[in-house]
Amino acid sequence: MNICVIGAGYVGLTTAAVLAELGHEVCCIDKDQNKITELNNGKIPIYEPGLSEFIAKNTNRLSFNTNLEEGVKKASIIFICVGTPSLADGKTNLSYVDAVINEIAPCIHSYKTIITKSTVPIGTNEQIYEKLLAKKISPELFNIVSNPEFLREGSAIYDMLHPDKIVVGLRQDDTQSLPIIQEMYSRIQAPYIVTSLNGAEMIKYASNAFLATKISFINEIARICEAFHIDVNDVSKGIGLDPRIGPHFLQAGLGYGGSCFPKDVKSLEQIALSKQIHPLILQAIQTVNDTQIDVYIHKLKTLFPDLHTKKIAVLGIAFKPNTDDTRDSPAERLISRLSQLTCDVCAYDPKAKLSRDQHHVRQVNSLDEAIKGADCVVIATDWDEFKQLDWAEMKKQMNGTIIVDGRNCLNRKEIEQCGLRYVGVGRG
Ligand code: UDX
Ligand code: UDX
Repeated sequence: MNICVIGAGYVGLTTAAVLAELGHEVCCIDKDQNKITELNNGKIPIYEPGLSEFIAKNTNRLSFNTNLEEGVKKASIIFICVGTPSLADGKTNLSYVDAVINEIAPCIHSYKTIITKSTVPIGTNEQIYEKLLAKKISPELFNIVSNPEFLREGSAIYDMLHPDKIVVGLRQDDTQSLPIIQEMYSRIQAPYIVTSLNGAEMIKYASNAFLATKISFINEIARICEAFHIDVNDVSKGIGLDPRIGPHFLQAGLGYGGSCFPKDVKSLEQIALSKQIHPLILQAIQTVNDTQIDVYIHKLKTLFPDLHTKKIAVLGIAFKPNTDDTRDSPAERLISRLSQLTCDVCAYDPKAKLSRDQHHVRQVNSLDEAIKGADCVVIATDWDEFKQLDWAEMKKQMNGTIIVDGRNCLNRKEIEQCGLRYVGVGRG
């Protein structure tokens, strides 16, 4: 099949690479000329495990271009994967999606299946359909499909090749698109959820909101565990064995971040409010997440009354391991707070770069540089390399003895056996 993917970000690039791997002819379009030039020179602008190999492997079927008109005209299937960031009030910024629809419209001269993969508020795909009709595009020449993605950064390729479901939102009278989607994904084994356009949009938001709920729930439980010296990791294991709860997304820590959860929960809250529905849970999720950093700052202030004079090594900048993405990163939120407290912050991350300069904050290129002379080491992102540290060696390098586990991912006993002090939230 001839496919055009618009938007070469984390989702667009993964989608394009996987579709090429599945045997389709794929043209990936992005308005960012530098990004396209880099891609055509074989340089992948983002760090996503396996992506560069996948792209290199499929160059015969995968091309990159800024020329949207050319890309759309050649293709029978169009994927919209442009950014849908938040507006100041938490609503979703649809200006990029709108811009793409305006650019696609004059290029529709043969039948097109237009598939929205970007996360868009409920009703957006219906509006796109009406908008194209208003531009005098014949309904014989296109259909709109909502096919949200559920891939996680850091395992995007695997998640797209092994999805737990394929969600397809269709207009009521659309009998053409489902067979086309099924043929396109014929080499991927997964159950299909076929629903309305609004239904598919809601499945995406509800999925992210529920996962965020699990995280804020376990973070609240961790606060209670703290008061009773209970190890929340035992609690996560205990409740997670109940298949009605499940073991995933019960790791307490600094809270959730990234390009999806924060903006999607906010957007769903605004969607509810737009219908005079009071989203109590959605608001509570955000309140717990927004105040999770305070819990750790309070702990650091208790540990170091003169915190402002201390050198703090922060290990991790990315919002999660295995990505270089720092969008809404809890680690960066912590670093900003420590900067405001005028601590001497030394940050290290295997892949991610600080998204902005801050007072008293410097990023170093090695873990050793970061911990040298540190009064305290904080694990802010749970990269595997931080879980296998030589704590005895760390102790020699550090000035202090305190390890703050902001991701509840370390082995407490190992640390204490080295004469270091382990500090977590809700770790007994
Ligand atoms: C995006 C959405 O933000 C997210 O809501 C959705 O769930 C998945 O797709 P992501 O891939 O992470 O997420 O976005 P981003 O990395 O910002 O990439 C978007 C790309 O679209 C950028 O490369 C941007 O240059 C490109 N773009 C944007 C266009 O090519 N044309 C436009 O008009 C706007
Ligand atoms: C998420 C969804 O998982 C994915 O299905 C959707 O398509 C996009 O949004 P992603 O943003 O890549 O994916 O990250 P995810 O792995 O879900 O982690 C999100 C945040 O939650 C990270 O900051 C992570 O550190 C945090 N998290 C995750 C926890 O704090 N505890 C957990 O148990 C799991």
